[in-house]
Amino acid sequence: MLWVNGEVVHEDQPVVLAHDHGLVVGDGVFETCEVKDGVVFALTRHLRRLRDSARGLGLGIDEALVRSGVEAVLADRPAWARLRITVTGGPSPYGSERGTAAPTVMVATGSMHAWPPTTDVAVVPWVRNERAATAGLKTTSYADNVVALRYAHDRGAAEAVFANTRDEVCEGTGSNLFFEYDGALVTPPLDSGCLGGITRELLIEWLRDDGVPVHELATPIAAFHRTREAFITSTTRGVQPIRAIDGAPLAQAPGPLTERAAAVFARRAAADSDP
Ligand SMILES: Cc1ncc(COP(=O)(O)O)c(C=O)c1O
Repeated sequence: MLWVNGEVVHEDQPVVLAHDHGLVVGDGVFETCEVKDGVVFALTRHLRRLRDSARGLGLGIDEALVRSGVEAVLADRPAWARLRITVTGGPSPYGSERGTAAPTVMVATGSMHAWPPTTDVAVVPWVRNERAATAGLKTTSYADNVVALRYAHDRGAAEAVFANTRDEVCEGTGSNLFFEYDGALVTPPLDSGCLGGITRELLIEWLRDDGVPVHELATPIAAFHRTREAFITSTTRGVQPIRAIDGAPLAQAPGPLTERAAAVFARRAAADSDP
């Protein structure tokens, strides 16, 4: 189902102007959420991140409007779906300067698919810029990710991994990274330039509640290549073990840290739909 600027519209209907700033320069922010039995998982956190991303772009968000869009597309209570919220700079001149029109707000549901039990990843030769104006924001400017994912697919991997300009481990194109380092579980800190993933932040909180230390630690990309076990996290993948990095199988997939993380995440997510 699709809802745009206050109205449910047919998915095949043209709804965005050619000079929408989201299309012209990728000036927009978005969220991808999981819907189960008609309920959005962690909606409060997703809306907080949407607000933060929008603030980072200097874009105003009408949260009541966004919420009414969410309600509208969930009217048929889908059993399992992906919910996509997009807010762009709206109709604007053909250039980097945003116009004065209201933002374009779109909320859509789409299908979800189960991911394989493990994934292979490829480290790409391009970097995330942790000092970029949009570092850590979930913007619609994802062309870097499109190129990186194609690079990974060309090498038989299902996710691409970026280091940052300091050659430290950063994130995937649509996922955060956790891995074993000196026997402990580490994940890149937010100042690595990675997105503050909702799955990442919940997992860190929940593992710590369970007495499992998770270190937000800057590590050289070489440490990732040497790890015994690793996994990626995202809204659509949950906790997904990494089988191989750049074609080299890991010692354990899943290893004990990964199994613990997956179990804790599954248990806590099932207990609370808006943690
Ligand atoms: C660049 C990037 N990093 C990490 C993630 C994972 O975030 P979340 O757990 O909120 O889905 C995403 C989500 O799509 C992403 O686009």
